[in-house]
Amino acid sequence: MKMRTLSVHTGVSKDTSYNSVITPIYPSSTFSFDALGKNKGYDYTRSGNPTRSALEENIAALEGGVGCSATATGMAATTTVMFYLKPGDHVIAGDDIYGGTYRLFSSIMTRMGISFSFVNMRDLSAVRSAILPQTRMIWIETPSNPLLNITDIAAVAAIAREGKLLTVADNTFLSPYFQRPFEFGIDLIIHSTTKYINGHSDIVGGAIVYRTKELEEQGRYLVNALGTSQAPFDSWLALRGVKTLSQRMEAHQENATRIAEHLERHPRVKRVYYPGLPSHPQAELIRRQMKGFGGMLAFNLDTSRVSMDRFFSRLSLFTLAESLGGVESLMEVPWLMSHASMGEEGLKASGISPETIRVSVGIEAWEDLIADLDAGLEG
Ligand SMILES: Cc1ncc(COP(=O)(O)O)c(C=O)c1O
Repeated sequence: MKMRTLSVHTGVSKDTSYNSVITPIYPSSTFSFDALGKNKGYDYTRSGNPTRSALEENIAALEGGVGCSATATGMAATTTVMFYLKPGDHVIAGDDIYGGTYRLFSSIMTRMGISFSFVNMRDLSAVRSAILPQTRMIWIETPSNPLLNITDIAAVAAIAREGKLLTVADNTFLSPYFQRPFEFGIDLIIHSTTKYINGHSDIVGGAIVYRTKELEEQGRYLVNALGTSQAPFDSWLALRGVKTLSQRMEAHQENATRIAEHLERHPRVKRVYYPGLPSHPQAELIRRQMKGFGGMLAFNLDTSRVSMDRFFSRLSLFTLAESLGGVESLMEVPWLMSHASMGEEGLKASGISPETIRVSVGIEAWEDLIADLDAGLEG
């Protein structure tokens, strides 16, 4: 079945009592046993909940995984995945991953005895030479946040397989609609479902999707033991949101393409980062592994001609806010906001400048969005 159909139909028919067409919310923290050792598949909501199961079935189907755990946030998914490791293990991660992931790795997980090498994932020889005897995992995020660099998923997965390393892909930016990392050999996919999967900026959530039953068993054990699972109400909202994923992604992409082309021609813009532009340096790889370009872009404002403050003060449709993937258009400055936790050195190394603006293009009319941008750029 096509993704449009899967996202509407998977996991929704859960009510055998009244045949409700929409999955009910089961807020119950606990479930009764019919007799000792005999229940209807659920005992306690941290370990399992029917509403959450519905969402998990849906996301697993979209990614083509064997199962999924819905987590309280995207960071809860990432934290959980870190517990596949043990003290002494080493992880290779991209040097331009989401700032919160970088913070978790570099300042929290290091305290737990796990070490990290942050490398340029586009440079496969750098990935190879970062492998140490104690390396256990390669973590990729592609396209990267915020500069939309692309990692060759199949090539990294092949390198990892040689050393029996676990591979994890953060697929938040494109969603399964535009990219399915399992098709390229990745073991675990994580999402911040806060973003495109839910799509309406009204919950925070995450997901871990499993390629094999063995990984699923370990992951489910970890989610339960760590207490990182998602609440039933939030699961229900995410399930409602995911049903329109395909239509939203198409709309995000159309708007983002028009805006990227417009910005690229604008004299007050120094550089535009968008996978759908012919100027993107990795066009061939993009064609090979992505089914679309998504709704995220970034650009460097020529602040010698219009200041950041002036630019933002003149916008009325683009909201200055962190996060992404909702129906409304948002903008933010990674240097000061989403990626500030990387520190100046880390930011510079990954190519982010104080003039970089990240745009999450919403699904409004593109003509209105371009008029709004022009007002800002006029300064
Ligand atoms: C690519 C990416 N991964 C993970 C996260 C973390 O997700 P959450 O904020 O839901 O914890 C974010 C949040 O912005 C993100 O952009």
